[in-house]
Amino acid sequence: YLPQEIIKLKRNGGQLPEAAIQQFVAGITDNSFSEGQTAALAMAIYLNGMATEETVALTRAMRDSGAVLNWAGKLNGPVVDKHSTGGVGDKVSLMLAPMIAACGGYVPMIAGRGLGHTGGTVDKLETIPGYSCTQPLAKIQAEVARLGCVIVGQSAELAPADRRLYLIRDVTATVESIPLITASILSKKLAAGLDVLTMDVKIGSGAIMKNVADASALATSIVNTAKGAGVKTQALLTDMNECLGATAGNVLEVLETLDYLTGKYREPRLHQVTLELGASMLQLSGLFADKTSAVAALERSLTSGKAAEIFAQMVSSLGGPADLFEKPAQYLAAAPVVLDIQAPQAGYLAASDTTAVGMAVVRLGGGRAHPAQVIDPAVGFSDIVALGGKVSQGDVIARVHAASVEAAQKATSEYLAALSWSESAPQLHPIVHKII
Ligand code: URA
Repeated sequence: YLPQEIIKLKRNGGQLPEAAIQQFVAGITDNSFSEGQTAALAMAIYLNGMATEETVALTRAMRDSGAVLNWAGKLNGPVVDKHSTGGVGDKVSLMLAPMIAACGGYVPMIAGRGLGHTGGTVDKLETIPGYSCTQPLAKIQAEVARLGCVIVGQSAELAPADRRLYLIRDVTATVESIPLITASILSKKLAAGLDVLTMDVKIGSGAIMKNVADASALATSIVNTAKGAGVKTQALLTDMNECLGATAGNVLEVLETLDYLTGKYREPRLHQVTLELGASMLQLSGLFADKTSAVAALERSLTSGKAAEIFAQMVSSLGGPADLFEKPAQYLAAAPVVLDIQAPQAGYLAASDTTAVGMAVVRLGGGRAHPAQVIDPAVGFSDIVALGGKVSQGDVIARVHAASVEAAQKATSEYLAALSWSESAPQLHPIVHKII
């Protein structure tokens, strides 16, 4: 097929034969499909969807665009991972990889960059000077065996098709597509050679899927495709109607992670989501028989300092500083302008348009407007007061970190415009909406 024939078939609502899908993925991987052609096909898939067979073929072809890790005989425990469909302030992967490692699982996590309004684990880790998310396969395998986890990105060797398609989707409004998300996530996860996968399917105003029906459809697509590939999989639909934790923005989220792992501060919703997902991973993998013992082990991984220790070792082993926990301010970029965002009125924080908050971070420079853009690591929001909080007029409800006063003021207006207020305590969303 010529690229334009494949695009036309999908544009006209047809079903792509497996050979066309394989050719498309090969073309993304070796750049013989231009950025425009890749974007056009992504948009056609976004608009017209894919049949299950097409989604499975796309996932397989993207997995096989690079190497598939094989762990047979190399580890003393199950190969376990989690992945989120994406949110704002969702830094849970940074905590859970070392926590699960401390509990006896092995986590070869292949993560992504920011996508649309959502933040990306790779962008967060790359704010640590020297930390490289592109590692040789031998190094990934050796460090997973030694430490219990590594977090890296797609590379020329691992899911390279997703690396290119992801950057193009990010800036062409083609993120919210069930087949594209399924193939993107599972190509990375299947390339990692997993036994067990817990999916965090976000739901709500800051998620890719805004309601239970859409999130359930996405979860079902991912769970069925992953199970079909032989991975034990569970999806938790967790709440993304507000930022997760107290920060959104790359360095700010790394700082929150350090505080979380050392116990300086654990924002309650963030902690609960982390424990729920971790307990699912530990139970699915057979490491713990029930939720109570799994949660106790996760708590122990924190109080013993073991998860922090593993995170510190991972950072230094992948090229970052050995004393990040001791001297974060020396290593992590700080924004030149930090302004308080004050409550314009008294009352309860009732709801948040969290996609708008995520786009405010992107506009501050924390995300991309085109695929090659270098992001500003330091910008974003911190000290975020959670929904349900009761404040007086003038109270600080968040801080904005920006490159200039103008950018900070614009982001402040966007942050405030995203909030709704109520006079009485609002009904809060459950943390876990559903398990599939
Ligand atoms: N996370 C991914 O890795 N890919 C998507 O498409 C969405 C979320």
